[in-house]
Amino acid sequence: MENKKKTYYITTPIYYPSDKLHIGHTYSTVQADTVARYKRLQGIDTFFLTGTDEHGQKIEDKAKEAGVTPKEYVDKIVAGIKDLWKLMNISNDKFIRTTDEYHEKAVQKIFKTMYDNGDIYMGSYEGLYCKPCESFWTETQAADGLCPDCGRPVVKASEEAYFFRLSKYADKLLKYYEEHPDFIDPPSRQNEMVNNFIKPGLQDLCISRSSFKWGIKVPINPDHVIYVWLDALTNYITALGFYQDDDSLFRKFWPADVHLIGKDITRFHTIYWPAFLMSLNVPLPEKVYCHGWVLLEGGKMSKSKGNVVDPVVLAERYGVDALRYYLLREVAFGADGVFSNENLINRINNDLANDLGNLLSRTVSMVEKYFGGTIPADRKAEPLDDELITLAAETKANTEKMLDGLRFSDALTGIWKFISRTNKYIDETAPWVLAKDEALKPRLAQVMYVLCECLRIISVFITPSMPDTGSEIRSQLGLGELTDWEESGKFGLAETYTVKKGKIIFPRIDAEKELAELEAASQPAQENPLKEEILGIAKINYDDFSKVDLRVAEITDCVPVKKSDKLLELTLNDGTGVPRTVASGIAEWYKPEDLKGRSVIIVTNLEPRKLRGVESNGMILAADLKDDACKVIFVDGVPAGSKVR
Ligand code: ME8
Ligand code: MG
Repeated sequence: MENKKKTYYITTPIYYPSDKLHIGHTYSTVQADTVARYKRLQGIDTFFLTGTDEHGQKIEDKAKEAGVTPKEYVDKIVAGIKDLWKLMNISNDKFIRTTDEYHEKAVQKIFKTMYDNGDIYMGSYEGLYCKPCESFWTETQAADGLCPDCGRPVVKASEEAYFFRLSKYADKLLKYYEEHPDFIDPPSRQNEMVNNFIKPGLQDLCISRSSFKWGIKVPINPDHVIYVWLDALTNYITALGFYQDDDSLFRKFWPADVHLIGKDITRFHTIYWPAFLMSLNVPLPEKVYCHGWVLLEGGKMSKSKGNVVDPVVLAERYGVDALRYYLLREVAFGADGVFSNENLINRINNDLANDLGNLLSRTVSMVEKYFGGTIPADRKAEPLDDELITLAAETKANTEKMLDGLRFSDALTGIWKFISRTNKYIDETAPWVLAKDEALKPRLAQVMYVLCECLRIISVFITPSMPDTGSEIRSQLGLGELTDWEESGKFGLAETYTVKKGKIIFPRIDAEKELAELEAASQPAQENPLKEEILGIAKINYDDFSKVDLRVAEITDCVPVKKSDKLLELTLNDGTGVPRTVASGIAEWYKPEDLKGRSVIIVTNLEPRKLRGVESNGMILAADLKDDACKVIFVDGVPAGSKVR
């Protein structure tokens, strides 16, 4: 293709800011980041989009639970998501939030366009609704009363709603798939869409809701909000300025080269989204790439099921690049990968510490030891060297093919073959033997040069997936910032090397000790009965609480109450100038002289009570201790009359 555009547009799903993101989400974003970095290194004008999907009933409910507005609720979580991507070294060009005003306005225009062209009509919706997934299902799809996506119960729901004429697009979709066999990757997902959804008959799609408010208003009927998936999917074009004054990015980058998604949202991206685009008369994306899941032993890792693995903890423990590597390497294309701490540690120790880390540290140490850091120009090549040169070229071709096809695990497997071959070259050439004979110095210099060249090429190969490690290797080799992927195809590029020993790139982990620590850290905390007790207490609202007037008061006098061994009669200065009397059941623990002159907290607005003949006006605050004892809360030095809240 001669006019093949030199731009590349890749997207991740936009994440629900409903809970903490886990390593499954991190896996999605790291893959997209790897491709984006690779394309940029190839000199391709690249746009990498990620963001958050912030509307819908689930968010509205969670915000209510938390006692904040939906916007306040999402703002906080979105800040955490942005921090996570920063930590993980994600190089997105834009972060879209579906609550951004430009997006909301463009979505309304999109709705209006579809309405005006006859693709949207008013109807009534009855179906089985899964609230956590925000999706409606038919009786056949949710035959067991459970959501086919997440396995939680669905409920019957019915409401007046707008519908999109999805049924109209069934044949067009089938034709499109047929003419574009690469549109859905892997192809097995295409069969699934055709056989499970399109062939049985596509129903029109309900695209508005009136049972909750947190969404973009339907422009022609403000009682309705736009279905969250219509809102969410269009982010891929609104982020580029679609239906906005400046749509230059849209004109430059659309259609997307890849929508990278998890397999659970294939239906939305390969049926609904293309149909929406057809309705808008906008070209379809080149590819929807559906990756597998990162699973925990025993099932899907779902944030809604409370079974999460925190990428922040893992990145802090093992390093960002180790986690990036692990995720990209462990999950084979189209399949699921099972996460375990043991697996992760093994990968770090074998692939990163042993294979790559040792190759670098041995090479740099030898160049320093044998040549004081700079490889001399007098070098003697031998045929063995050509094996590495050839393998480097093959690895480059393979890595490109695999990265272009988003086969990350295969790409890394190939790169590690080259790393192992380079390690083997050290054993074959035995530099420590060469070093013993002055006459063999030129050969020794060449061996060091070949090793450094291989490491330079490896630094290029791994930079998209492990950017910091790529830079560190280059810095120890005395090289500058990598700017061009093609550098990996030029064996013999560097004239010589002046190396500089740096840190160990991947320290070995004592697996046994580490696993024991993780085990201990992941033990559920001892159940604390107090937790149950406190959770069980009925909530009061803020107004109820503010009815209680708490003040600091100074005890000016204190005498025992007659005929009682429990009560003390306290005279208090509460700041009003009028002495206040309170009877308090603390005589068992305090003598009057312990209390005189001390400051306490009192409830001032309790109705008066008569205790053993003394009229008590209020109560002083004290803590009940475990052994039935009691401790008064003293606040000595705080002025009498101060309000406590
Ligand atoms: O679905 N392993 O958001 P989301 C791999 N807002 N990938 C996983 C995973 C796991 N264990 N768990 C989740 C949504 N994912 C919508 C997207 S796009 C217009 C709207 C992936 O936060 C999941 O497959 O629930 C999906 O691709 C992505 O994380 C976002 O999930
Ligand atoms: Mg999901």
